[in-house]
Amino acid sequence: MTKIAILGYGTIGSGVAKVIKENKNIVSGNAGDDIEVVKILDLRDFPGDENEKLVTHDYEEIVSDPEIDIVVETMGGTKPAFDFVKRALLAGKSVCTSNKALVADHGTELIQIAKDKNVKFYFEASVGGGIPILRPLRTCIVADEVESIRGILNGTTNFILTKMDRDGASYEDVLKEAQKLGYAEADPTADVEGHDTCRKIAILTALAYGAQVDFQDIDTKGISDITSEDMAYAKKLGRQIKLLGLSRRENGKLYALVSPYMLDESDALYSVSGVFNAITVKGNMLGDVMFYGQGAGKEATASAVVTDIIETVKKRGQKLDINWSADKLTVESSDKLSDRFFVRVKESDADVITAFNGAERIEGVVSGEVGFITKSLTYEEFTAKLGAKTPISVIRYA
Ligand code: HSE
Repeated sequence: MTKIAILGYGTIGSGVAKVIKENKNIVSGNAGDDIEVVKILDLRDFPGDENEKLVTHDYEEIVSDPEIDIVVETMGGTKPAFDFVKRALLAGKSVCTSNKALVADHGTELIQIAKDKNVKFYFEASVGGGIPILRPLRTCIVADEVESIRGILNGTTNFILTKMDRDGASYEDVLKEAQKLGYAEADPTADVEGHDTCRKIAILTALAYGAQVDFQDIDTKGISDITSEDMAYAKKLGRQIKLLGLSRRENGKLYALVSPYMLDESDALYSVSGVFNAITVKGNMLGDVMFYGQGAGKEATASAVVTDIIETVKKRGQKLDINWSADKLTVESSDKLSDRFFVRVKESDADVITAFNGAERIEGVVSGEVGFITKSLTYEEFTAKLGAKTPISVIRYA
């Protein structure tokens, strides 16, 4: 019997209890041992809930209980999650978490402690919700040099962009709907400004290259200034606007970026819509592989956490198999990353297009302005050519 405690009985934490109960035989069969939730930490009480008797408000009861082998952290945020997780690992307990902020901020240190204590620290659900992506990165795509990772990593923003495209609705209206449906996190800033995607691409990149990536080094732009007019241009061009997190190795340098992109129909990420996520990984031998599924949601995310619990039980006593050293990877500025750019300017500024050799002009979408698409150039070169002109909007164009 493996006894576990859950920290945080919200959407994901209660989902973990549900998966363990409803898939009891599958879970114990795959783990080779019965798994039992014996304690749940939360500030709240849950009268009438089937697990109400397991609830405690005191973390000491969990961290000092020698019978608890695995701590599941589904609280989110770093305070007090970091302190709780660190103490659990130091006490010789394995930890499985869905918390991307925790992993992006403290992954290097927590992995090192887990290795020192010969316990596990797994975090599959922190990126892509239920999509198996971290396990393939650390155990399957290991004979390759990863050339690039590109993903739609945030369900809320993908839902908003899909709705804006399909219904012609404004950003503000669709954001309100996303909040009503419970997709957006308590503070939507993390989703819409790309911070959530930034932490996820930092984790993916760290795992792909086996070293620390500071998420603060990744230039991040969200979707809050995407308008119905941008959508109208995308439609005319047969494109979809998607928020991408990407990292790419070029000439020995590592680039990483979070930014909206206008994607062509032939792009694997073009038709990923609604709250779904997808990630493409390109290996130098493997070529492109793609992972697709529910990037958020109670059961899907909990399923990934329970898979980590199963792996922890199966690998009890073995060394933690995560290659993620404290060596910090240098992330180049995205100003040096080449792309094509879609640009809108006022009609009175349209002469700037002549500075962009071979640019494709788009007219007749919004009155009083002109759109154009540049050839591939770095953002630095792009702004130099724009000179003093202020564009109405600029979106990377893949
Ligand atoms: N707010 C996140 C999303 C939840 O919308 O994708 C999953 O990390």
